[in-house]
Amino acid sequence: MSTFVAGNWKTHLLNDSAVALASDVAELCNGTDVAVFPPAVYAQSVRQALANSQVGLGLQDLSDLGPGATTGDICADQARDIGCQYVLVGHSERRIRQQESSDWVAAKAKAAVDAKLVPLVCVGETLQERESGRHVDAVMQQLLPALQVMQSGDRFMVAYEPVWAIGTGKTASAEDAQAMHAQIRLQLAERGLEQTLVLYGGSVKAANASELAEQPDIDGALVGGAALNGQEFAAIVAAFREKK
Ligand code: PGA
Repeated sequence: MSTFVAGNWKTHLLNDSAVALASDVAELCNGTDVAVFPPAVYAQSVRQALANSQVGLGLQDLSDLGPGATTGDICADQARDIGCQYVLVGHSERRIRQQESSDWVAAKAKAAVDAKLVPLVCVGETLQERESGRHVDAVMQQLLPALQVMQSGDRFMVAYEPVWAIGTGKTASAEDAQAMHAQIRLQLAERGLEQTLVLYGGSVKAANASELAEQPDIDGALVGGAALNGQEFAAIVAAFREKK
């Protein structure tokens, strides 16, 4: 598998609309190179809707700890038990709202890998960091703790999502995204982790997916808003399949 497209449904949808969207995804872009991340409460309904497809299922967050006294969390064993293969960790909405540190995110990524779940480790700079020229440092500070806990052969992905591009309609230019992806790739290669896919996220839509997919180090996309429409999401998947 050389590309991957993930749909992050965030806190959108109710049970019926989540099931309907999952059925659309299964019909329009079935494949092992696609996964959806529904609200956790609907993960099992979505799993049933995906049952005859190869589309993967993931959660949007994971506890860094095992079963125990962590009210409101979902642990890796539970995620696996309900049929998940993937989890997002360190999404900027959580780093900001829940004040998740990069060490905490790294611990979540490790918990996922230990349970044979594939974590998508999300990193990305703020507008202020970009405008002051500190964007590469900011992204590396988020990424390196997670890379330190990974070993060659561990299955995980990195999702580069500039905070200023998420849900704003502003996408990083393909060149800026490529430049950051190349830096991330370098860090991965230095640690023997070059098999790791690096996805881009932040206002990805059908209209800009091909240009992003053409960049040598952009291996796929983490899609928010545009993942809520099956046709639009399938067009993004198609753009990355062209790359193969
Ligand atoms: P967006 O969200 O595509 O709506 O910008 C991406 C994300 O937050 O993963």
